[in-house]
Order: sequence, then C-alpha cells, then structure tokens
Amino acid sequence: MEYRELIAQAVAAKKSAYAPYSHFRVGAALLAKSGRVYTGCNIENVSFSATNCAERTAIFKAVSEGEREFEAIVVHGDNNDYLPPCGICRQVLAEFCDLESFQVILANHEEDYRAVTLAQLLPGAFLTENFKPGNFTEE
Ligand code: THU
Repeated sequence: MEYRELIAQAVAAKKSAYAPYSHFRVGAALLAKSGRVYTGCNIENVSFSATNCAERTAIFKAVSEGEREFEAIVVHGDNNDYLPPCGICRQVLAEFCDLESFQVILANHEEDYRAVTLAQLLPGAFLTENFKPGNFTEE
C-alpha cells in the first residue's frame, strides 16, 4: 500500500492544530475501508486533561459519520522523529480496528515513515470480548 497521499493529508491536517499550551502540533489521517479519509488535529484545552489528540479527533469524526471499519492511520507531529500514538488513542483505535491488520503509519514526511500494527502497539489489549455479560462474576 502506498501511503504518500494519506501522509500528505496528515501533514495538511496538522495546520489546523489548536496547541497554544504545548506548541506541539499533530496531524492524523485515517483511511476507512469505505475509501474515505478522515483527518484530525490535536485540540488542546486550558484544563489540560480535556485535550484531544489528533488520532482521536480523526476517529471520532469518522465514527460520528457512520464509519466502523478502518485500514490505516497516519500520525505526523512537529517533532523530528516518528510519533507514536498515546495509550488512550491506542485503546480508542482498538475499539474499531483489527489489531493484526490495521496499520499505524508513523510519518516524518512522505518518503520517511514506519508502519506498525496496532497489535505491536497495544499487546494484551482490553477488548469488547473481555467485557461480555456472563464473562465475569456479578456480585
Ligand atoms: N498528541 C497528539 O495529538 N497525538 C499523539 O500521538 C501524541 C500527543 C498531542 C496532545 C497534546 O496536544 C500535544 O500533542 C502534546 O502532548
């Protein structure tokens, strides 16, 4: 799979970042199995914990428009190295994305990226199958 176009969209999405506290801008571009791309940027808040990462902005946009299945996400930050998604974003991605096949593309620019699976980023994930009525003992 060629990720050049998806990377370009993540780089462009970074321009919309609202990051007045960290000054660290992040862009993401999420490819749905429908073929549509949903972009996201980080949106910070004066109450720091209310900050939303670029990856979650992208997947929340997509899910809110009816998408449920995804192929890959590009993450691109203001740092000069591959930027891995935070733990909260990994967990949110794991709700909808197949751990073994979903590709997380850590991109510096269009020719410099590293692809890893969600399984590599989130081993031993807590998944919906671990949370079924009857699968645990009710007091
Ligand atoms: N951030 C993201 O948007 N995605 C990541 O993968 C890592 C961190 C944002 C959150 C915050 O606005 C800033 O980067 C510094 O942590």
